[in-house]
Amino acid sequence: MHGPGLRGAGEVSYSVQLSSSEAPLGPDKTPGVGMRAAVMIEPGRPLEVRELTPRALRPTEVHLRIDASGVCRSDETIRRHGMGGLGPVILGHEGAGTVLEVGSQVGDLSPGNRVIGAFQPACGSCWHCVRSRTHHCEQIMHVATQAHWKDDHSGDRTWSMSGLGTFAEEAVVDRMSVVAVNTDLPAEQLALIGCAVMTGVGAALNTARIEPGSVVAVLGCGGVGQFVVQGARIAGASRIVAIDPVLRKREAATANGATDVIDPTTADAIEVVRDMTGGCGADYAFEVALSGPTLRQAYDLCRNAGTVVAVGMPTAGTTVEFDAYQLFSTEKRLLGCYYGSGQVRRDFPRLVALAEAGRLDLAGAVSRRIALDDVNEAFVAMANGGVIRSVIVPSAPVRADLRGGSA
Ligand SMILES: NC(=O)c1ccc[n+]([C@@H]2O[C@H](COP(=O)([O-])OP(=O)(O)OC[C@H]3O[C@@H](n4cnc5c(N)ncnc54)[C@H](O)[C@@H]3O)[C@@H](O)[C@H]2O)c1
Ligand SMILES: [Zn+2]
Ligand SMILES: [Zn+2]
Repeated sequence: MHGPGLRGAGEVSYSVQLSSSEAPLGPDKTPGVGMRAAVMIEPGRPLEVRELTPRALRPTEVHLRIDASGVCRSDETIRRHGMGGLGPVILGHEGAGTVLEVGSQVGDLSPGNRVIGAFQPACGSCWHCVRSRTHHCEQIMHVATQAHWKDDHSGDRTWSMSGLGTFAEEAVVDRMSVVAVNTDLPAEQLALIGCAVMTGVGAALNTARIEPGSVVAVLGCGGVGQFVVQGARIAGASRIVAIDPVLRKREAATANGATDVIDPTTADAIEVVRDMTGGCGADYAFEVALSGPTLRQAYDLCRNAGTVVAVGMPTAGTTVEFDAYQLFSTEKRLLGCYYGSGQVRRDFPRLVALAEAGRLDLAGAVSRRIALDDVNEAFVAMANGGVIRSVIVPSAPVRADLRGGSA
């Protein structure tokens, strides 16, 4: 059923062939049961809001009301390029919700509990999970290839991105894909923990393990990059250099703790960072844009024996060239960063606690709340740099003023 070599594909890529006998739908629609969700019918087209009916809840599953869902660049990449042929798919992988109903084997969650979705499940018992690497949990393909919904109009089975599908009023997810949190923080802030915060703060604290006093450069200060900046601040970096062509992003980075900003369209970031550091370069350089050329730039921004962290998600086939002699002689450490190397059951509650203590700002990243029907406007605003994050609140009214993508 699974394509070859796809373990840990997470939100990156899927290649699955489901035979018609697999992922069966349950009983037909119970009148009055169902919800609306933003569905990728075909890659490259705007999402369509559809009415869908759930199949019967399985014993390990949880039925959620989605309270809020952030719109991440990875949703846009999947919307444009698809998920290896899987579809139609409810997009969205950064969401918070409330438990409505639990399957018969779910003993530790009850209706009314608040949860944050994890785009990589944490089963707790696979090879990676027992080694504290739940961000590579082997159950990702299992959760991502369950079709939980049926399109009321077309009758199509409909999948959920990363097993979550948070651009929706409701979701049916496996228990291993959610983490319960006990907090009064607003849902739109909690939602961001599911991807941007876990990835950004995790890149700084888990993947790179920034040492206090370090010089940190962050290339790309969108939704995720802002949280790399905050993670560097929490880690005690002495200088945090935020690099982004959009003024609004640079200003937000300053508010989040950046000590210096560079507009890469008017200055050579590599030269500026070298000048700042006596010719050495940054101790840590994070690529948080779209990978490719900016990853190479991050490599060049970094000092010898420094750490380069690749956070941005490239499209399949993107290549970056490094001189192998340089890699050897400079001893730069080039680290991939998937989901901020996050251990979601440990880290989501930690991130909530940091936010509650006022040491991590979540509110500043919520640029605007939008209705489900305005989901495509979120992609427009993302493209024109108008927002840090648009957050879908399914109960929010449609806003005519958003048409055109301004914040
Ligand atoms: N590693 C992971 O697990 C993971 C998780 C979530 C997102 N991502 C990826 O991280 C990246 C960032 O996601 P996001 O949601 O913050 O996207 P975003 O669109 O909000 O932010 C990208 C930022 O990069 C800036 N940028 C564009 N070109 C640049 C350049 N040449 N130099 C410097 N900055 C530049 C943009 O102005 C923007 O602020 C995306 O590639 C996304 O797919 C990875
Ligand atoms: Zn994401
Ligand atoms: Zn696992």
